[in-house]
Amino acid sequence: MPEADTGKEAKDFHVDIPPRTTPFTLKGCHSLDWGMQNRLARIFNADSKRTVMLAIDHGYFQGPTTGLERIDINIVPLLPYCDALMLTRGILRSTIPSTFTHGTVLRASGGSSILKELSHERIAVDIEDACRLNVAAMAVQVFIGGEGEAQSINNMTRLVDLGNRYGIPVLAVTAVGKEMVRDARYFRLACRICAELGAHVVKTYYVAEDFETVTASCPVPLVMAGGKKLPEIDALTMASNAVSQGAAGVDMGRNIFQSDAPAAMIQAVGKVVHENMAPADALEYYKSLKSK
Ligand code: R5P
Repeated sequence: MPEADTGKEAKDFHVDIPPRTTPFTLKGCHSLDWGMQNRLARIFNADSKRTVMLAIDHGYFQGPTTGLERIDINIVPLLPYCDALMLTRGILRSTIPSTFTHGTVLRASGGSSILKELSHERIAVDIEDACRLNVAAMAVQVFIGGEGEAQSINNMTRLVDLGNRYGIPVLAVTAVGKEMVRDARYFRLACRICAELGAHVVKTYYVAEDFETVTASCPVPLVMAGGKKLPEIDALTMASNAVSQGAAGVDMGRNIFQSDAPAAMIQAVGKVVHENMAPADALEYYKSLKSK
């Protein structure tokens, strides 16, 4: 028992100063509960309201793809430069140091490999395991227009219910079938459906035309997927365009870990995302880091 606090009668309660509150200004997230907001704050930088999320979850359907053969060697050195890391629980437990304190976004759907139709996924993680791993969010593929559309939407809504119960946000990944047109009209549809049905963050691809209509019509933060490996200047330009057109950062994989200099590339992407550095300047920054 602490001793009675009788030493000072007149305590300074600052009765003339109203209580200070700090608003949570991430798009569409102001009314989420404290735990949910705290987890989102592990993903999105407090100043820029954007994220550099490093996506390394490809192995869940592709196996050891190029650049991810040895995550301990290829990826662990990049960890200081990402705001968040998107990955499977297998890689998190086996390979990522538990001293990593940035956000972790857990791949929570799976079930189809590249040898079969990809859209038939199921929820692949128990919510208790996500809690045990102390993840900042759970990620789920949503195949709008795909063969497995209804099941994938059901996976997402079920995860959203579980996430809401435990305070863990859900990142919906808009997965586009090979046969589908990747344009703003499609992504407006896919992103909006995900947000309407409760996703807290949405991940989508960049499109050169009208991308700002995709971000504008999505009421929650939207992060840009990287897609296939591009020349560094093109990837930096795409990231720059996406954030200037309303994206809350990037969730990039191959354009970072398949770069000739992944550590230099992720830092250059960080300059673009958090400091609005022009792509040409970011390329010079990349080259200067690469040459060291
Ligand atoms: C695939 O659906 C995974 O969610 C990847 O994380 C995603 O494709 C992002 O990686 P990349 O930038 O290589 O496209």
